[in-house]
Amino acid sequence: MDTEKHITPLTRGLTGRLRIPGDKSVSHRSVMFSALGRTPVRITNFLHAADCLSTVACMKALGAEVEMVSDTELVVTGHGLHGLQEPAGILDAGNSGTTLRLLMGLLAPQPFNAVFTGDASLSRRPMGRVIKPLSQMGAKIVGRKGNTLLPITVCDPEAKLHGMTYESPVASAQVKSAILLAGMFAGGPTTVVEPVTSRDHTEKMLAAFGVAVEKQGTAVTIHPVANDEYVAPTAIEVPGDISSAAYWLVLASLVPGSRLVLENVGTNETRTGILDVLEAMGADIQRENVRTSGGEEACDLVITAAKLHGTSFGKDMMPRLIDEVPAIAVAALFAEGDTVITGAGELRVKETDRLQAIADEWNKLAPGSVEAGEDSLVIHGGTPVQCAEVASYDDHRMAMSLACLGAIGKGVIIGRPDCVNISYPEFYQTLQSFR
Ligand code: S3P
Repeated sequence: MDTEKHITPLTRGLTGRLRIPGDKSVSHRSVMFSALGRTPVRITNFLHAADCLSTVACMKALGAEVEMVSDTELVVTGHGLHGLQEPAGILDAGNSGTTLRLLMGLLAPQPFNAVFTGDASLSRRPMGRVIKPLSQMGAKIVGRKGNTLLPITVCDPEAKLHGMTYESPVASAQVKSAILLAGMFAGGPTTVVEPVTSRDHTEKMLAAFGVAVEKQGTAVTIHPVANDEYVAPTAIEVPGDISSAAYWLVLASLVPGSRLVLENVGTNETRTGILDVLEAMGADIQRENVRTSGGEEACDLVITAAKLHGTSFGKDMMPRLIDEVPAIAVAALFAEGDTVITGAGELRVKETDRLQAIADEWNKLAPGSVEAGEDSLVIHGGTPVQCAEVASYDDHRMAMSLACLGAIGKGVIIGRPDCVNISYPEFYQTLQSFR
């Protein structure tokens, strides 16, 4: 455990090729959905990081067989759609909102009880957004503070869920996915309508298991699934995570002399907002070897350093870059002119309050550079930067973004830096390889 990490400025451009670790969202789903099949599924390029390992541990506790062939390859075998078993202990989701929220949806209709816990960060995050709609479907779920916070118990083995149409107040793939998973076991069709479409990995991967999710505008509908309709594919190849690629996209765009190839990055269009925003800022990003892998589009991204200028984007763009706002805020600091980000209130309920954290930590490294509103950020590009001690808030994306800020600027000392293990354990090592 490091108590702090000192990042010094990069002195040359980023060049060569970099393989991006597997996508976190797709890795979680690959294990959960395979655990509902009856035949072995070989998962390759799995993200070997703390969040996805929380999902593996939970699915094992629910009776799935998981063979770790290597760090990034595993074989998951389930006992069928109705084959999950009552966990003997408490299910620990760790830091992972995806593990907790999707599993609440999956376990709400099962004929057994399940108790969830998580770390300090997850224990502060809002769970009513999932408990409320699942309860409307007939589930019995209780939690602290009026059924909104961990610890949470799914506690009616007799619950019979019915389908419904749910107008979600938030664009959230975790909420949507929890309801769709519960909907597979409900008595009739279930529809989720979102204010803006969120990432659609659940819909895409369920199709690979023979489950059709109908899409109409921002609405998705699932029908009850019979045991023999659910057929596991033999293999799932996880594409590289664009949320992890984000840091290298920003670094290579801003460090002069860079020309970097990021291999095998997932470019599902519900996730590529960062490419659109960086391009609008003047970034030079080319797509090569575009292909489809496991129903998801992937390609190599070639980034050449460019001069960036400020931009603005808002609510409609937010779901397509929700996890990349800290990285984009780094690019904005070194761009010419202001960047205005609106409709970003969801950032306040991520692993930490990222709107406040960005404002507080950026202002230590570049005094006067950021103003945070209730759901907005204004970043004054070109504000002079200095080296400073900053806090990660135990938030992996804050730590990695702050490391990038220091590497482009005048250096940084990051407190509690080890949280990168949540999604990108080799991040600091890879950054070091560019020296
Ligand atoms: C995720 C959805 C997003 C994202 C999270 C992963 C997923 O959360 O921020 O890192 O895998 O479904 P929300 O759906 O709550 O916005």
